[in-house]
Amino acid sequence: MSERTLVLVKPDGVARGLVGEVLSRLERRGYRLIACDVRTLPEDTARAHYAEHQDKPFFNDLVAFITGGPLAAAVVEGPGVIAAWRTMMGATNPVNAAPGTVRGDLAVSTQQNVTHGSDSPESAAREIALFFPDLP
Ligand code: RTP
Ligand code: MG
Repeated sequence: MSERTLVLVKPDGVARGLVGEVLSRLERRGYRLIACDVRTLPEDTARAHYAEHQDKPFFNDLVAFITGGPLAAAVVEGPGVIAAWRTMMGATNPVNAAPGTVRGDLAVSTQQNVTHGSDSPESAAREIALFFPDLP
């Protein structure tokens, strides 16, 4: 099976009408959408998704932000998509993100940075199972 990653357009991106902008970058690149929906995340799912950050000072704010409105969740497939999407997203703090990246073009806030991408094959498998448990 080709590589897959979980992509989120976070609530700030959905509120700003950027879902098409973000997903079209992946599609134009040549990656394929396997699953996609818009949903408001329950708090337990948000806590599980960002469990690696549970001891960080920003964790509660992050959970409040990511559950604070609808987000778009997608599974995207293609060669090297995990690393490629991390590069296409840009640095976590958009101030440090290169022009041409999603965050470098569309964001200025570390929290409200428009998009998420899995950071490893292990994270991708865990996150896809969390968001799309019925996906073949
Ligand atoms: P993501 O997991 O959302 O794809 O982002 P990332 O890998 O680039 O960054 P990560 O370190 O995993 O942080 C997860 C998300 O938490 C928020 N954050 N806030 N206030 C802060 O210092 C801070 N640091 C991180 C951001 O929304 C970040 O994307
Ligand atoms: Mg991360």
